[in-house]
Amino acid sequence: MLSVVCSMANYKKPRLKDAAFKRLLSVVLVTLLGVSLLIVSLRTNINPASNGFDEDLSGSDDIQSVSGKLNLPQQNEFSIQLEKRNRLPPRNVDLYPKLAKDHITIVLYVHNRPQYLQVVVKSLSKVVGISETLLIVSHDGYFEEMNKIVEGIKFCQVKQIFAPYSPHVFTDSFPGVSSNDCMEKDDAEKKHCIGNPDQYGNHRSPKIVSLKHHWWWMMNTVWDGLKETRGHDGHILFIEEDHFIYPNAYRNLQLLVSLKPNKCPDCYAANLAPCDVNSRGEGWDSLVAERMGNVGYSFNRTVWRKIHRKAKEFCFFDDYNWDITMWATVYPSFGSPVYTLRGPRTSAVHFGKCGLHQGQGQSNACIDNGSVNIQVDEIDKVASIGSEWDVRVYHNQPGYKAGFKGWGGWGDARDRQLCLSYSQMYHSFNTSSAVMS
Ligand SMILES: *[C@@H]1O[C@H](CO)[C@@H](O)[C@H](O)[C@H]1NC(C)=O
Ligand SMILES: *[C@@H]1O[C@H](CO)[C@@H](O)[C@H](O)[C@H]1NC(C)=O
Ligand SMILES: *[C@@H]1O[C@H](CO)[C@@H](O)[C@H](O)[C@H]1NC(C)=O
Repeated sequence: MLSVVCSMANYKKPRLKDAAFKRLLSVVLVTLLGVSLLIVSLRTNINPASNGFDEDLSGSDDIQSVSGKLNLPQQNEFSIQLEKRNRLPPRNVDLYPKLAKDHITIVLYVHNRPQYLQVVVKSLSKVVGISETLLIVSHDGYFEEMNKIVEGIKFCQVKQIFAPYSPHVFTDSFPGVSSNDCMEKDDAEKKHCIGNPDQYGNHRSPKIVSLKHHWWWMMNTVWDGLKETRGHDGHILFIEEDHFIYPNAYRNLQLLVSLKPNKCPDCYAANLAPCDVNSRGEGWDSLVAERMGNVGYSFNRTVWRKIHRKAKEFCFFDDYNWDITMWATVYPSFGSPVYTLRGPRTSAVHFGKCGLHQGQGQSNACIDNGSVNIQVDEIDKVASIGSEWDVRVYHNQPGYKAGFKGWGGWGDARDRQLCLSYSQMYHSFNTSSAVMS
């Protein structure tokens, strides 16, 4: 059993092999995006109040940013609009005026797979207790179809945020593609192009680096930037646009969080799902402590501060996957194994079959007919964690660990600097020491 739990084979493989095709695809997509952004910004100019972008935010200090002092990229008008929009208050406050005292904030981070998002949102609508909390949807890029789905949410308070420096928001300059960037295996000196190759000789691909950027921007923003959450002293749960959430997820998570200090003092986090994404759990009558997983993980501010202190490790590791970066550099640097506590039966599943950034548009939707067939049994509808249970621990699970050199894709000095800037952007004190906060 142990050999398959959380094993490396279940995780991501290098995706850069078919880079040539992806490059072509990305040129096409970026062009399309450029045109649509232009249209959006034209519309914004014609009717500034139409989408809520231009509400008067003067005097607002929701986001304490010191971007002026940082090396953040020059923003375009659209990026500035997104940043303003991030300061809008949550929706549905009229329906749910108060958050429960012990609520666990939920952060859903998404790119552009509306068929997936629809499934996730539908699953969230059935989660018992969801109306007690705040759902933050963090977007990598701006996509109307995605917005429409989020705007339709009525089951809890919802706040949307948009990564203002997403490569998807910049059509002709860094962090997007710019005309004199090196591509593929270009020799920067010979071609007089800009960029640093990764350890395998490949130059950056904006579409690929956007995931790690988004994750890091989102982490910094929800813990340290947003008025709604920067004072939150409980846990925050993180889920993705291809994670189906069971009805009992929230109540189970509350139980795990309350049991954690006594049952597993060494656990840094609580997870909804096993680390092995193919497992649905063991069905034991016990809790499970294991390696930190990447589906439905939650932790508190103490843990965030530990992660934030490793900003340099995170931002300089040559792997474009945020999770592999965490496993290979950040967690090992904590000095002891980073365990998470979970139940013996999963409360979330990863259903995405498509790889990176595919699945846009009806024609190549990766889930059939916009729905997935995930069986929800009666037991998955009510809290199923036993307070009297013991904890079984998986020691020495296989998987990425210290010493792994990374899959590459993250060699460009500009990406590393941008990443580092994200960790400093809400710390108004001396920026060079902010990294070590
Ligand atoms: C946060 O979680 C960590 C790890 O479980 C724990 O050691 C710490 O006491 C918690 N902090 C607070 C403020 O509850
Ligand atoms: C999609 O739904 C239609 C009608 O319900 C069905 O006939 C078709 O087989 C489904 N397609 C797939 C790929 O499941
Ligand atoms: C900021 O911190 C660094 C390192 O702690 C120090 O060398 C530098 O002088 C400080 N700068 C300012 C303006 O305080």
